[in-house]
Amino acid sequence: MKAIIFENYGAPGVLKLSDVPKPVPKADEVIVNIHCTTVTSGDVRLRKADPWLSKFIMGFPKPKKKILGVDFAGVVDSTGSSVTKFKIGDRVFGSSGFNPGTYAEFKAISENGIISKIPGNITFEEAAAIPFGGLTSLHFLKQAGELKGKKVLIYGASGSLGTAAVQLAKFFGAVVTGVCSSKNRELVLSLGAANVFDYNKDDFSKKGVKYDVVYDTVGKTNFENAVLSLNENGLYLRAVHFTPSPVFKAIWTELTTSKKVIGGVTKETVENLEFIANLTSENKYKPVIDRIYPFEEISAAHAYVETGRKKGNVVIVVDDDLISKASNKAGMFIPQTY
Ligand SMILES: NC(=O)c1ccc[n+]([C@@H]2O[C@H](COP(=O)([O-])OP(=O)(O)OC[C@H]3O[C@@H](n4cnc5c(N)ncnc54)[C@H](OP(=O)(O)O)[C@@H]3O)[C@@H](O)[C@H]2O)c1
Repeated sequence: MKAIIFENYGAPGVLKLSDVPKPVPKADEVIVNIHCTTVTSGDVRLRKADPWLSKFIMGFPKPKKKILGVDFAGVVDSTGSSVTKFKIGDRVFGSSGFNPGTYAEFKAISENGIISKIPGNITFEEAAAIPFGGLTSLHFLKQAGELKGKKVLIYGASGSLGTAAVQLAKFFGAVVTGVCSSKNRELVLSLGAANVFDYNKDDFSKKGVKYDVVYDTVGKTNFENAVLSLNENGLYLRAVHFTPSPVFKAIWTELTTSKKVIGGVTKETVENLEFIANLTSENKYKPVIDRIYPFEEISAAHAYVETGRKKGNVVIVVDDDLISKASNKAGMFIPQTY
Protein backbone atom coordinates (compact mmCIF):
# COMPACT_ATOMS: atom_id res chain seq x y z
CA MET A 1 0.00 0.00 0.00
CA LYS A 2 1.10 3.58 -0.33
CA ALA A 3 1.96 5.45 2.83
CA ILE A 4 3.78 8.61 3.88
CA ILE A 5 6.73 7.59 6.02
CA PHE A 6 9.44 9.48 7.91
CA GLU A 7 12.84 8.05 8.81
CA ASN A 8 14.06 11.07 10.81
CA TYR A 9 12.50 13.78 12.94
CA GLY A 10 12.65 17.18 11.28
CA ALA A 11 11.21 19.61 8.72
CA PRO A 12 8.19 18.77 6.50
CA GLY A 13 10.59 17.43 3.85
CA VAL A 14 11.25 14.31 5.97
CA LEU A 15 7.83 13.02 4.87
CA LYS A 16 8.18 10.71 1.86
CA LEU A 17 5.69 8.77 -0.22
CA SER A 18 6.55 5.06 -0.01
CA ASP A 19 5.30 1.51 -0.50
CA VAL A 20 4.85 -0.52 2.68
CA PRO A 21 3.10 -3.82 3.45
CA LYS A 22 -0.66 -3.68 3.90
CA PRO A 23 -1.66 -4.53 7.50
CA VAL A 24 -3.37 -7.82 8.37
CA PRO A 25 -6.10 -7.62 11.04
CA LYS A 26 -5.70 -9.20 14.47
CA ALA A 27 -8.84 -10.93 15.77
CA ASP A 28 -10.35 -7.73 17.24
CA GLU A 29 -9.28 -5.36 14.45
CA VAL A 30 -10.78 -3.93 11.30
CA ILE A 31 -8.65 -2.76 8.39
CA VAL A 32 -9.85 0.67 7.31
CA ASN A 33 -9.31 1.73 3.72
CA ILE A 34 -8.55 5.35 4.51
CA HIS A 35 -10.14 7.90 2.21
CA CYS A 36 -9.28 10.99 4.24
CA THR A 37 -6.94 11.86 7.08
CA THR A 38 -5.82 15.22 8.46
CA VAL A 39 -2.65 17.10 9.31
CA THR A 40 -3.03 18.31 12.89
CA SER A 41 -0.89 20.51 15.12
CA GLY A 42 -0.19 17.27 17.00
CA ASP A 43 1.18 15.58 13.86
CA VAL A 44 3.52 18.53 13.38
CA ARG A 45 4.78 18.18 16.97
CA LEU A 46 5.40 14.45 16.48
CA ARG A 47 7.20 15.02 13.16
CA LYS A 48 9.54 17.55 14.80
CA ALA A 49 9.77 15.69 18.14
CA ASP A 50 8.65 18.91 19.84
CA PRO A 51 8.64 18.51 22.79
CA TRP A 52 11.29 15.77 22.73
CA LEU A 53 9.11 13.73 25.12
CA SER A 54 6.90 13.03 22.09
CA LYS A 55 9.62 10.59 21.00
CA PHE A 56 8.03 8.25 23.54
CA ILE A 57 5.20 7.92 21.00
CA MET A 58 7.15 7.54 17.75
CA GLY A 59 10.48 6.10 18.99
CA PHE A 60 14.10 6.80 20.04
CA PRO A 61 16.44 8.14 18.69
CA LYS A 62 14.78 7.97 15.26
CA PRO A 63 11.12 7.19 14.58
CA LYS A 64 10.42 3.47 15.09
CA LYS A 65 6.82 4.02 14.06
CA LYS A 66 7.34 5.57 10.65
CA ILE A 67 3.80 6.60 9.73
CA LEU A 68 2.17 9.66 11.28
CA GLY A 69 -1.50 10.66 11.36
CA VAL A 70 -4.32 9.95 13.82
CA ASP A 71 -7.60 11.06 12.25
CA PHE A 72 -9.18 8.77 9.69
CA ALA A 73 -12.33 8.38 7.63
CA GLY A 74 -12.84 5.56 5.20
CA VAL A 75 -14.41 2.17 4.58
CA VAL A 76 -13.93 -1.16 6.37
CA ASP A 77 -11.83 -3.31 4.02
CA SER A 78 -11.60 -6.48 6.12
CA THR A 79 -12.34 -7.65 9.66
CA GLY A 80 -10.61 -9.87 12.22
CA SER A 81 -12.15 -13.17 13.28
CA SER A 82 -13.85 -11.85 16.45
CA VAL A 83 -15.11 -8.50 15.15
CA THR A 84 -18.85 -7.99 15.70
CA LYS A 85 -19.38 -4.22 15.60
CA PHE A 86 -18.35 -3.59 11.98
CA LYS A 87 -18.63 -5.30 8.62
CA ILE A 88 -16.84 -4.92 5.30
CA GLY A 89 -18.07 -1.82 3.48
CA ASP A 90 -19.08 0.17 6.58
CA ARG A 91 -18.23 3.89 6.37
CA VAL A 92 -16.20 4.56 9.51
CA PHE A 93 -14.14 7.31 11.09
CA GLY A 94 -12.22 7.98 14.26
CA SER A 95 -8.86 8.51 15.88
CA SER A 96 -5.94 6.12 16.27
CA GLY A 97 -4.83 8.20 19.29
CA PHE A 98 -1.41 7.20 20.61
CA ASN A 99 -1.01 4.67 17.80
CA PRO A 100 -0.48 6.95 14.78
CA GLY A 101 -0.39 5.61 11.23
CA THR A 102 -3.28 7.06 9.24
CA TYR A 103 -1.09 8.63 6.53
CA ALA A 104 -1.65 5.39 4.65
CA GLU A 105 -4.11 3.62 2.40
CA PHE A 106 -4.94 1.10 5.13
CA LYS A 107 -4.78 1.10 8.91
CA ALA A 108 -5.64 -1.59 11.48
CA ILE A 109 -7.93 -0.27 14.23
CA SER A 110 -9.33 -2.28 17.15
CA GLU A 111 -13.10 -2.45 16.99
CA ASN A 112 -12.96 -1.32 20.64
CA GLY A 113 -10.84 1.72 19.76
CA ILE A 114 -12.00 5.23 18.87
CA ILE A 115 -13.94 4.23 15.77
CA SER A 116 -17.58 4.56 14.79
CA LYS A 117 -19.81 4.39 11.74
CA ILE A 118 -20.19 7.70 9.90
CA PRO A 119 -23.79 8.76 10.40
CA GLY A 120 -26.08 10.25 7.79
CA ASN A 121 -24.61 11.91 4.74
CA ILE A 122 -21.48 13.26 6.41
CA THR A 123 -18.66 13.20 3.86
CA PHE A 124 -15.29 11.54 4.43
CA GLU A 125 -13.66 14.98 4.48
CA GLU A 126 -16.02 16.21 7.20
CA ALA A 127 -15.72 12.99 9.19
CA ALA A 128 -11.91 13.16 9.19
CA ALA A 129 -12.09 16.74 10.46
CA ILE A 130 -14.15 15.82 13.53
CA PRO A 131 -11.94 13.80 15.93
CA PHE A 132 -8.86 15.89 16.78
CA GLY A 133 -10.41 19.23 17.66
CA GLY A 134 -13.84 17.86 18.50
CA LEU A 135 -12.77 15.14 20.94
CA THR A 136 -10.29 17.44 22.65
CA SER A 137 -12.65 20.35 23.12
CA LEU A 138 -15.58 18.18 24.18
CA HIS A 139 -13.30 16.49 26.75
CA PHE A 140 -12.24 19.86 28.19
CA LEU A 141 -15.66 21.52 28.12
CA LYS A 142 -17.22 18.54 29.90
CA GLN A 143 -14.93 19.32 32.87
CA ALA A 144 -17.01 22.47 33.38
CA GLY A 145 -20.26 20.58 33.95
CA GLU A 146 -23.47 22.45 33.13
CA LEU A 147 -22.72 25.32 30.72
CA LYS A 148 -26.23 26.69 30.18
CA GLY A 149 -26.19 30.46 30.69
CA LYS A 150 -22.51 30.49 31.66
CA LYS A 151 -20.01 32.95 30.23
CA VAL A 152 -17.34 30.96 28.38
CA LEU A 153 -14.29 32.49 26.72
CA ILE A 154 -12.58 30.43 24.01
CA TYR A 155 -9.02 31.63 23.42
CA GLY A 156 -7.68 30.57 20.00
CA ALA A 157 -11.23 30.31 18.66
CA SER A 158 -10.20 29.85 15.02
CA GLY A 159 -8.06 26.70 15.33
CA SER A 160 -9.04 23.05 15.27
CA LEU A 161 -9.80 22.94 19.00
CA GLY A 162 -11.19 26.47 19.00
CA THR A 163 -13.72 26.10 16.17
CA ALA A 164 -14.99 22.93 17.84
CA ALA A 165 -15.10 24.57 21.28
CA VAL A 166 -17.08 27.62 20.14
CA GLN A 167 -19.73 25.41 18.58
CA LEU A 168 -19.92 22.92 21.44
CA ALA A 169 -20.06 25.58 24.16
CA LYS A 170 -22.80 27.38 22.23
CA PHE A 171 -24.68 24.10 21.77
CA PHE A 172 -24.54 23.53 25.55
CA GLY A 173 -26.17 26.93 26.07
CA ALA A 174 -23.15 29.05 27.03
CA VAL A 175 -22.71 32.69 26.08
CA VAL A 176 -19.50 32.41 24.09
CA THR A 177 -16.75 34.99 23.64
CA GLY A 178 -14.09 34.08 21.10
CA VAL A 179 -10.54 35.41 20.95
CA CYS A 180 -9.00 35.34 17.47
CA SER A 181 -7.47 37.74 14.96
CA SER A 182 -9.68 40.10 12.97
CA LYS A 183 -9.37 37.99 9.80
CA ASN A 184 -11.18 35.14 11.59
CA ARG A 185 -13.78 37.29 13.30
CA GLU A 186 -16.65 36.45 10.90
CA LEU A 187 -15.85 32.73 11.02
CA VAL A 188 -15.93 32.67 14.82
CA LEU A 189 -19.16 34.70 14.97
CA SER A 190 -20.72 32.35 12.39
CA LEU A 191 -19.89 29.39 14.64
CA GLY A 192 -21.93 30.85 17.48
CA ALA A 193 -19.78 33.33 19.41
CA ALA A 194 -21.77 36.26 20.78
CA ASN A 195 -18.70 38.44 21.00
CA VAL A 196 -15.17 38.39 19.59
CA PHE A 197 -11.91 40.00 20.73
CA ASP A 198 -8.97 40.47 18.41
CA TYR A 199 -5.93 39.29 20.34
CA ASN A 200 -3.74 41.76 18.44
CA LYS A 201 -5.76 44.74 19.65
CA ASP A 202 -7.64 43.78 22.80
CA ASP A 203 -6.58 42.07 26.00
CA PHE A 204 -9.75 40.25 27.04
CA SER A 205 -8.61 40.21 30.65
CA LYS A 206 -8.59 44.04 30.77
CA LYS A 207 -12.19 44.49 29.58
CA GLY A 208 -13.81 44.28 33.00
CA VAL A 209 -15.79 41.13 32.13
CA LYS A 210 -15.58 38.03 34.32
CA TYR A 211 -16.04 34.55 32.88
CA ASP A 212 -17.20 31.26 34.35
CA VAL A 213 -14.85 29.37 32.05
CA VAL A 214 -11.72 30.46 30.18
CA TYR A 215 -10.59 27.73 27.76
CA ASP A 216 -7.17 28.38 26.23
CA THR A 217 -6.92 26.08 23.20
CA VAL A 218 -3.54 27.36 21.96
CA GLY A 219 -1.45 27.90 25.09
CA LYS A 220 -1.08 31.64 24.57
CA THR A 221 -3.00 33.17 27.51
CA ASN A 222 -1.17 34.86 30.35
CA PHE A 223 -1.81 32.53 33.30
CA GLU A 224 -2.30 35.21 35.96
CA ASN A 225 -4.53 37.40 33.79
CA ALA A 226 -6.70 34.46 32.79
CA VAL A 227 -7.21 33.49 36.44
CA LEU A 228 -8.02 37.10 37.37
CA SER A 229 -10.69 37.25 34.65
CA LEU A 230 -12.56 34.29 36.18
CA ASN A 231 -15.60 34.55 38.42
CA GLU A 232 -15.39 33.09 41.90
CA ASN A 233 -15.40 29.28 41.37
CA GLY A 234 -14.43 29.88 37.73
CA LEU A 235 -12.58 27.28 35.69
CA TYR A 236 -9.44 27.79 33.60
CA LEU A 237 -9.06 25.05 30.98
CA ARG A 238 -5.65 24.68 29.32
CA ALA A 239 -5.19 22.38 26.32
CA VAL A 240 -1.47 23.17 26.30
CA HIS A 241 -0.31 22.50 29.84
CA PHE A 242 2.72 20.26 29.77
CA THR A 243 5.56 22.30 31.30
CA PRO A 244 6.27 22.51 35.06
CA SER A 245 5.61 26.25 35.52
CA PRO A 246 1.84 26.29 34.75
CA VAL A 247 1.38 23.03 36.60
CA PHE A 248 2.82 24.64 39.77
CA LYS A 249 0.76 27.79 39.15
CA ALA A 250 -2.35 25.63 38.82
CA ILE A 251 -1.68 23.95 42.17
CA TRP A 252 -1.07 27.36 43.79
CA THR A 253 -4.28 28.80 42.28
CA GLU A 254 -6.35 25.95 43.68
CA LEU A 255 -4.71 26.23 47.12
CA THR A 256 -5.22 29.98 47.41
CA THR A 257 -8.52 30.67 45.56
CA SER A 258 -11.87 29.02 44.86
CA LYS A 259 -10.93 28.85 41.16
CA LYS A 260 -9.89 25.69 39.38
CA VAL A 261 -7.34 24.95 36.62
CA ILE A 262 -7.50 21.85 34.43
CA GLY A 263 -4.94 20.79 31.82
CA GLY A 264 -3.55 17.43 30.79
CA VAL A 265 -4.13 15.00 27.97
CA THR A 266 -7.53 14.37 26.38
CA LYS A 267 -9.35 11.14 27.11
CA GLU A 268 -10.85 10.26 23.74
CA THR A 269 -14.10 8.27 23.86
CA VAL A 270 -16.40 6.72 21.28
CA GLU A 271 -19.31 8.29 23.14
CA ASN A 272 -17.88 11.77 22.50
CA LEU A 273 -17.04 10.89 18.89
CA GLU A 274 -20.61 9.77 18.22
CA PHE A 275 -22.03 12.77 20.05
CA ILE A 276 -20.25 15.21 17.71
CA ALA A 277 -20.93 13.12 14.62
CA ASN A 278 -24.64 13.09 15.41
CA LEU A 279 -24.62 16.86 15.90
CA THR A 280 -22.89 17.14 12.52
CA SER A 281 -25.43 14.98 10.73
CA GLU A 282 -28.19 17.11 12.29
CA ASN A 283 -26.46 20.27 10.99
CA LYS A 284 -25.86 21.49 14.55
CA TYR A 285 -22.07 21.26 14.23
CA LYS A 286 -19.75 22.01 11.33
CA PRO A 287 -16.24 20.53 11.15
CA VAL A 288 -14.40 23.58 9.83
CA ILE A 289 -12.09 22.74 6.94
CA ASP A 290 -9.53 25.28 5.85
CA ARG A 291 -7.67 23.43 3.11
CA ILE A 292 -7.75 20.03 1.43
CA TYR A 293 -4.51 18.61 0.04
CA PRO A 294 -3.86 15.52 -2.07
CA PHE A 295 -1.84 12.75 -0.36
CA GLU A 296 1.31 13.47 -2.35
CA GLU A 297 1.36 17.07 -1.07
CA ILE A 298 1.35 16.19 2.60
CA SER A 299 4.69 17.98 3.17
CA ALA A 300 3.10 21.21 1.94
CA ALA A 301 0.14 20.59 4.25
CA HIS A 302 2.56 20.14 7.18
CA ALA A 303 4.37 23.35 6.29
CA TYR A 304 1.03 25.18 6.27
CA VAL A 305 -0.17 23.73 9.58
CA GLU A 306 3.21 24.57 11.12
CA THR A 307 2.63 28.28 10.43
CA GLY A 308 0.07 28.14 13.26
CA ARG A 309 -2.35 30.12 11.10
CA LYS A 310 -4.77 27.47 9.92
CA LYS A 311 -8.51 27.86 10.40
CA GLY A 312 -10.08 24.72 11.81
CA ASN A 313 -8.70 21.65 10.09
CA VAL A 314 -6.51 20.61 7.16
CA VAL A 315 -7.73 17.47 5.39
CA ILE A 316 -5.71 15.06 3.26
CA VAL A 317 -7.37 13.07 0.50
CA VAL A 318 -5.56 9.73 0.44
CA ASP A 319 -7.06 8.45 -2.80
CA ASP A 320 -8.66 10.89 -5.25
CA ASP A 321 -10.72 8.16 -6.90
CA LEU A 322 -12.43 7.28 -3.64
CA ILE A 323 -13.69 10.75 -2.90
CA SER A 324 -17.08 12.01 -3.87
CA LYS A 325 -16.63 15.45 -5.36
CA ALA A 326 -20.23 16.14 -4.30
CA SER A 327 -18.91 16.35 -0.77
CA ASN A 328 -17.84 19.91 -1.37
CA LYS A 329 -20.93 21.43 0.20
CA ALA A 330 -21.42 25.13 -0.29
CA GLY A 331 -19.71 27.12 2.41
CA MET A 332 -18.15 24.07 4.02
CA PHE A 333 -14.72 24.17 2.47
CA ILE A 334 -12.28 26.82 1.38
CA PRO A 335 -10.11 24.52 -0.71
CA GLN A 336 -7.14 26.56 -1.81
CA THR A 337 -4.81 23.84 -2.93
CA TYR A 338 -6.82 20.79 -3.85
N1 LIG B 1 -4.25 18.52 25.79
C1 LIG B 1 -4.52 17.74 24.76
O1 LIG B 1 -4.87 16.56 24.91
C2 LIG B 1 -4.40 18.30 23.38
C3 LIG B 1 -5.06 17.64 22.32
C4 LIG B 1 -4.98 18.20 21.06
C5 LIG B 1 -4.24 19.36 20.84
N2 LIG B 1 -3.58 19.94 21.89
C6 LIG B 1 -2.77 21.16 21.67
O2 LIG B 1 -3.67 22.22 21.44
C7 LIG B 1 -3.00 23.23 20.70
C8 LIG B 1 -3.94 23.81 19.68
O3 LIG B 1 -4.23 22.86 18.69
P1 LIG B 1 -5.04 23.26 17.37
O4 LIG B 1 -4.89 22.10 16.47
O5 LIG B 1 -6.37 23.75 17.70
O6 LIG B 1 -4.14 24.47 16.84
P2 LIG B 1 -4.21 25.15 15.40
O7 LIG B 1 -5.48 24.77 14.72
O8 LIG B 1 -2.94 24.87 14.69
O9 LIG B 1 -4.25 26.70 15.81
C9 LIG B 1 -4.17 27.63 14.81
C10 LIG B 1 -5.06 28.81 15.16
O10 LIG B 1 -4.58 29.43 16.35
C11 LIG B 1 -4.76 30.82 16.22
N3 LIG B 1 -3.79 31.56 17.04
C12 LIG B 1 -2.46 31.55 16.91
N4 LIG B 1 -1.90 32.37 17.84
C13 LIG B 1 -2.93 32.89 18.56
C14 LIG B 1 -3.01 33.78 19.67
N5 LIG B 1 -1.92 34.32 20.21
N6 LIG B 1 -4.22 34.07 20.16
C15 LIG B 1 -5.35 33.54 19.63
N7 LIG B 1 -5.34 32.69 18.57
C16 LIG B 1 -4.14 32.37 18.05
C17 LIG B 1 -4.53 31.08 14.75
O11 LIG B 1 -5.24 32.22 14.36
P3 LIG B 1 -4.47 33.46 13.66
O12 LIG B 1 -3.99 32.98 12.34
O13 LIG B 1 -5.52 34.51 13.57
O14 LIG B 1 -3.35 33.82 14.60
C18 LIG B 1 -5.06 29.81 14.07
O15 LIG B 1 -6.39 29.97 13.58
C19 LIG B 1 -1.75 22.58 20.13
O16 LIG B 1 -0.61 23.08 20.81
C20 LIG B 1 -1.94 21.11 20.41
O17 LIG B 1 -0.71 20.45 20.63
C21 LIG B 1 -3.66 19.45 23.15
